Amino acid sequence: MTDALLTETRDDTTAAWWRQAAVYQIYPRSFADANGDGLGDIPGIVSRADYLQELGIDAVWLSPFYPSALADGGYDVADYRDVDPRLGTLDDFDDMVAALHERGIRVVVDIVPNHSSDLHEWFQEALAAGRGSAARERYIFREGSGPDGSEPPTDWTAAFGGSAWERVEDGQWYLHSFAPEQPDFNWDHPEVREDFLTTLRFWSDRGVDGFRIDVAHMLTKDLSEPLPSSAELEGMPHDGTHPLHDRDDVHEIYAEWRRVFDEYDPPRTAVAEAWVSTPERRARYASAEGLGQAFNFDLLVADFDAAQFRTIIADNLAQADATGSSTTWVLSNHDVTRHATRYGLAPLNGREGVKQGVEWVAAGGPADQLDRETGLRRAHAATLLLLGLPGSTYLYQGEELGLQEVAEIAPEQRQDPSFFRGAVFDGLGRDGCRVPLPWTASGPSFGFGGIEAHLPQPAWFAEHAVEVEEADPQSTLSLYREALRLRRLLQTDESLEWIETGRADVLRFARPNGWQIVTNFGSEPFDLGADAAEVVLGAVVDGAVPADSTVWIAPAGLVG
Ligand code: GLC
Repeated sequence: MTDALLTETRDDTTAAWWRQAAVYQIYPRSFADANGDGLGDIPGIVSRADYLQELGIDAVWLSPFYPSALADGGYDVADYRDVDPRLGTLDDFDDMVAALHERGIRVVVDIVPNHSSDLHEWFQEALAAGRGSAARERYIFREGSGPDGSEPPTDWTAAFGGSAWERVEDGQWYLHSFAPEQPDFNWDHPEVREDFLTTLRFWSDRGVDGFRIDVAHMLTKDLSEPLPSSAELEGMPHDGTHPLHDRDDVHEIYAEWRRVFDEYDPPRTAVAEAWVSTPERRARYASAEGLGQAFNFDLLVADFDAAQFRTIIADNLAQADATGSSTTWVLSNHDVTRHATRYGLAPLNGREGVKQGVEWVAAGGPADQLDRETGLRRAHAATLLLLGLPGSTYLYQGEELGLQEVAEIAPEQRQDPSFFRGAVFDGLGRDGCRVPLPWTASGPSFGFGGIEAHLPQPAWFAEHAVEVEEADPQSTLSLYREALRLRRLLQTDESLEWIETGRADVLRFARPNGWQIVTNFGSEPFDLGADAAEVVLGAVVDGAVPADSTVWIAPAGLVG
């Protein structure tokens, strides 16, 4: 392949940079620790800016780095317009944006609008001001039920388990959809709305390119009395009229945000985390008049299965076409069991991927149930397939090292509120995918920084250390780097054409510029014939794509 072609890059100055971007999620407290206190920080990210550039991603998305008591890993924000002092300063943040921009990497930050931390000054004010005060109007306070109001207003449960209501000293209760330290905002309040516009401008003015919107589907609520019971809520349709989820009126907020994004050149972008009932409902968040893009988690909850992948890919591309947005592909993030582990669990097929991982973690990660090699091979296959698709791909830190979920975390070392509050969905919680990255094969905290990382790193992290994988052309890191480099050549029009393979367990498609992707989900090799000579990524054995593998075939004439 000619060097000229390989060094070609896309035009990154256009407003459409996000449409087919490879976005790398950084969980800042677990990425790199520059000051050695065991907690990753912003200078740590700066110190690894070259690593990010060599990886070949287009953007980073930073999970929250704001001041926080860490009741929910930073998703409990005490101040939306500052940096947690343990992670650095606003000046450090500016340095980071400059370092990343110099390297052609965009910056996306997380906005958490459904709830603040209970340490947020508005919530503290609300507590101090007492019942009936204007300060309480910014949150959702109600009197309790029962003769003396000592029962919660409703029987609703929080996402992390337990009641969704918490009682305060004077006897009133406030709503928290997640942990008690995360009081829900009242989005009917004009000051709440105005304050988030200020926050969006604050970060946009500092050069932030885009935003990831946390639980974007939950902001507006219909809390008119009488409040429904859980059972009543269960029976209500998710058609835009549900009192708590995915209400049509939430889009008024995003239309306002869009006007702010469009004040900038290029316009700021946004991606919604919206767990909604159908692709059609999700499309509303992705509209050009709203946030512009929404996470599609369909592959994250699917099995490693050709038929499931094909349907999901086709549906989401059609959906993106209909809305004018581009779709998003995600296999892992900070909330779910890593996909290298999910794909290595027995039984390997026939169950919803994410739940399978949760059950394994909840069982303490039994080693005999996990086939690490198969898991990793399938993870490579799935990731290479994703990176060949139209749309943007979100990668989660550590997956480029082939990290598996860390199950061996003692209860006293766990941090996730879903573990302590017994949320059913999360099993033992989400700490196992948030363990600080290994940078070196030996030394304290595997080069993360400091003597001890804030979550314990297992001994097997050594073999996945960046320094080890950098030196190994067969490593997961080398594969990701090569894929991300070639991806710049492969990404053209946002379309694909399926090519029939004669096998139900093999998917093959072509991009408009002639690149082809072949994924063999089955156990028998898939013969490539003459095309084997044009494979530029992924292993070919005896002219065939082996089981659980993906290859990229370059357009004729590119190789040689
Ligand atoms: C989102 C985040 C998750 C967090 C929750 C509450 O789902 O991804 O980590 O716990 O929102 O903010």
